[in-house]
Amino acid sequence: MNLAVFVSGRGSNLKALIDAEELKSLINIVAVVSNKSDCLAFEIAKKKSIDCFTVSNEVSSNSLLFTDLLEIFLEKKISLIVLAGFLKLIPAEFISSFEGKIINIHPALLPSFGGKGMFGMNVHKAVFNSSAKISGATVHFVDSIYDNGLIISQEAVDISDVDSYEEIAERVLNIEHKLLPFTVKKIAENKIVIINKRVKILD
Ligand code: GAR
Repeated sequence: MNLAVFVSGRGSNLKALIDAEELKSLINIVAVVSNKSDCLAFEIAKKKSIDCFTVSNEVSSNSLLFTDLLEIFLEKKISLIVLAGFLKLIPAEFISSFEGKIINIHPALLPSFGGKGMFGMNVHKAVFNSSAKISGATVHFVDSIYDNGLIISQEAVDISDVDSYEEIAERVLNIEHKLLPFTVKKIAENKIVIINKRVKILD
């Protein structure tokens, strides 16, 4: 299965996908896309000779539009798009061209702590300030509303003893690095079914 991974920054989830032994025979990451041409994630991708593309919602000389990307993805036969820390809203037309084939990892237990502006450290700060005792990570299908699509997988972590939002971020990121490869594996193995608007993961 050919994958594209969308990133904005550090790319630790991209690295988790690249390094996951259990995915080696199942997936090929053939494109990494970012809204930032100088992101660390591009360095990770380039070391593995994966094609990198910068995308923007506005016409500019050094980036592509989503419509250009669509053509490239069809050519590369991409069947799954993983948003791993991509912080821009993707145009509705692009999403509908890949309906059911775009997933996102979110660093909290949706439907709490999601929506516009809820990304990266903002999420962990909100969780810390809420006095919640658990947080976690969620992988969900993407539709045209932020953090709104059907939830595929989640894992929780105890945060009752933390003293800072940075500690929450660290614990959640550890979970993300396992949950995302696990979920991609299940998709690649065709072990995801949707029944009554709930996503079931088969053994
Ligand atoms: C991850 O924690 C991911 O869940 C989050 O951005 C981080 C990217 O880290 N995504 C969101 O907040 C989306 N709403 P990474 O670049 O090291 O993978």
